[in-house]
Amino acid sequence: MIDFGPPAELPASGRAADDVLGELEGMRSGDVDWRAGRSFGLVFHAGDEVEAVARAASVMYLEENGLNPLAFPSLGRMQQDVVDMASGMFHGRDGGRQAAGFMTSGGTESLLLAVEAARNRGRDERGVTEPEMVVARSAHAAFHKAGGYFGVKVNVVPVRDDWRVDVDAMASAVNDRTVLVVGSAPQYPQGVIDPIPEIASLASERGINCHVDACMGGFVLPFMEDLGYDLPPWDFRVEGVTSISADVHKLGYAPKGASVLIHRDVALRNHHVFMFDDWLGGFYASSGLAGSKPAGPMAAAWAVMNLIGRDGYRRLTATTIEATRRMIEGVRSTPGLTVLGEPQAQCVAISAAEGATVDVFALMDELATKGWHLDRQKPPDSLHATVSAGTAPAVDDFVADLRAAVEAVGDRRTEDRSTDYAPIDPST
Ligand SMILES: Cc1ncc(COP(=O)(O)O)c(C=O)c1O
Repeated sequence: MIDFGPPAELPASGRAADDVLGELEGMRSGDVDWRAGRSFGLVFHAGDEVEAVARAASVMYLEENGLNPLAFPSLGRMQQDVVDMASGMFHGRDGGRQAAGFMTSGGTESLLLAVEAARNRGRDERGVTEPEMVVARSAHAAFHKAGGYFGVKVNVVPVRDDWRVDVDAMASAVNDRTVLVVGSAPQYPQGVIDPIPEIASLASERGINCHVDACMGGFVLPFMEDLGYDLPPWDFRVEGVTSISADVHKLGYAPKGASVLIHRDVALRNHHVFMFDDWLGGFYASSGLAGSKPAGPMAAAWAVMNLIGRDGYRRLTATTIEATRRMIEGVRSTPGLTVLGEPQAQCVAISAAEGATVDVFALMDELATKGWHLDRQKPPDSLHATVSAGTAPAVDDFVADLRAAVEAVGDRRTEDRSTDYAPIDPST
């Protein structure tokens, strides 16, 4: 647990601007150095120009409020454009399809709202009062958060040896109360794409929702397809897929606070819109969890997507996937290590090879001394790398340091088996 020292007090009198900003600069010095391309996750950087444009757009809209597009029509327009651009990428408008959605603050909010929409649809169309969803063990933790928030029981089914969801187990777990089945494209832990057509057909046979979590893949898979990579079907071209989430703030290269949740049609979308007409404040409608909504991330996402364009994303994806494949080869050719499964996009899980004694958590401690950041995950004990355009140039150095770290660590194990993603001490 991180010790932040004694509780802060609001300063009795305001401090000088230089002093405040200087302290912030100082505080940052202990953070991971993502600019050096050594953080395989958390920050996704597409170069100085993209950063400069994102920064300018964010600052331009620092104070505006996305809550009310009547007051700020520009923000309504940006949201519509971002959603439309993403819908096009996911074939949401092919053949007269009319996909519709909203921007959200990130992958988690997109997943929360996908669950809420499924719950509401099950209640309104089928009278389901005790809703359930079926997700793989590999599905993002936010589905469990959503289950808690919206009162939807989460039935977890195992993954197969290739880390993809066991669709037979999923079919057996579906019952009359099921409102949602979930597939990921790709799932985060091992980077493989679930069998979306099979999952979606479970949903369409029963008139329930099928959400595809493409928070990681939404801004990669369409461009891999352009580049000629062989990929299984995962988007709105698959009948039965009712919604897709994709994070502009991951491989879309926008700063944090931008994702989209897109439904196959407006009727499905309307299940997640909150409308209330019995308030002394008047009619209130809201598309997401927040009321007042930061406009900076919306503007930055719009600007970055327009700046990069399809050809730019294709280039960034080529760089990313080539580097990912080099990382996979580098890890597999390092004695004692392996990569779990066959990652299909940019996420890679590094673990000990069968029969090898190397402790990947001790290995991570060693790598951290060289400034590398990968998340520790389990089960099984492994290190997670999300490669992106910003980290691609560092991959060869990473593999060299990884090899040296394996030698340095030998059979040493660390006591610390934690895989805390966001440490919260329940006792304070
Ligand atoms: C597949 C997947 N879904 C959802 C999320 C949640 O995204 P966020 O952290 O933006 O809330 C992540 C985050 O890594 C993810 O990998």
